[in-house]
Amino acid sequence: MTRPLLIRNASQLVTLKGSADGPRTKEQMSDLGLIENGSVWIEDGVIQAVGTDEEICAAYAGRLGEAEVVDVSGKLVTPGLVDPHTHLVFAGSREDEFNMRLQGATYMEIMNAGGGIHATTARTKAASFEQLFEESASRLDQLLLHGVTTVEAKSGYGMEWETERKQLEVAKKLNEVHPMDIVSTFMGAHAVPKEYKDRPDEFVDYVIGLLPKVAELGLAEFNDVFCEKGVFTPEQSRKILKAGIEFGLKPKIHADEIEPYEGAELAAEVGAISADHLLKATGKGIEAMAAAGVVGVLLPGTAYFLRAEFANARKMIDAGVPVALSTDCNPGSSPTVSLPFVMNLGCLMMGMTPAEVLCAATINAAHAINRADVVGSLEVGKRADVTIFDVPNYMKLQYSYGVNHVNTVVKAGRVVVS
Ligand code: NIG
Ligand code: FE
Repeated sequence: MTRPLLIRNASQLVTLKGSADGPRTKEQMSDLGLIENGSVWIEDGVIQAVGTDEEICAAYAGRLGEAEVVDVSGKLVTPGLVDPHTHLVFAGSREDEFNMRLQGATYMEIMNAGGGIHATTARTKAASFEQLFEESASRLDQLLLHGVTTVEAKSGYGMEWETERKQLEVAKKLNEVHPMDIVSTFMGAHAVPKEYKDRPDEFVDYVIGLLPKVAELGLAEFNDVFCEKGVFTPEQSRKILKAGIEFGLKPKIHADEIEPYEGAELAAEVGAISADHLLKATGKGIEAMAAAGVVGVLLPGTAYFLRAEFANARKMIDAGVPVALSTDCNPGSSPTVSLPFVMNLGCLMMGMTPAEVLCAATINAAHAINRADVVGSLEVGKRADVTIFDVPNYMKLQYSYGVNHVNTVVKAGRVVVS
């Protein structure tokens, strides 16, 4: 039996309670369920009580001496952040392309010339399991240091069975041994490999042939496609996502990132849990997502790094799309592990409020990966994943940018960063 943990007297405690009601839309995104002088009582890795310090100390008066106490006076306490879109498992980096882009080359030009995703695929193929494990583990350490306690991780730097499987097995192993929780997505359709360049439909059939193996081995929960002009068409994407549904793999989609391509509409049509990127989503696509309840996962770190136009978060929120935020951590379009920085971009470059970005990086992000029943809010019965920031209120978390304000991270009731 481990000792209870008492997180005590936060100047602001962001609970985001009410998470059972589905992803939050419109003004619900601003309702943080704030408690001043808030405390949380945790036992066996699970939240037992949340309230004012006075309430919690009264309720556990006879047991205060038993508890390990973390005094968070003057600090902000939030649910552990959830990062619902990463390409966590890859080898190497692509600063050479960064430099080329700064001289004017575009992301797609680099990819079509055999670099981009293809360059990382070659390195990931060549890497041993151990090397991939180590490189990815260090990214997880960094994510945790930036307050993230749950991440989604995609394959997609193999585009053939052996390497896709290696990536998913690395994620599985990391989920077992690292404090971070990892939710896996199969993304065999991340690019069309060179050898299939003139017969992409054959590659689509090849990817579809891998789906039963992924499902049978329990290697992923979601199935994702890069639906983009010059990569996979909406028809090809539809075929892959629908095939995944037959094997119990829930659809996700990289949609309307570089050009409008009816990705948002397709997400609504196939009942995707989320559509991600959406920089170029049309009004029609946004309406369709709102009607179908598809979470819009926005990745402003990618728009920043590619120097592209940011997604229209305001239009999506006003239309009733539940919006989430994510790093898109990957070596080509968003080599960052800082979800708080992404939240700051959400405010300054997409017009979201400090309250909305917190909702988007916690409970709505949890909904985007089907984990809202266990994480994303501080409520009785949920896993005790808690992030403590060294700022007195949630507005200051966004106002004071470019600094890592994380002070302490509690994962399943255990202090893992302090
Ligand atoms: O989400 N758009 C496709 N995939 C990634 C980038 C992957 C890469 O460049 O390595 C993304 O932006
Ligand atoms: Fe991505």
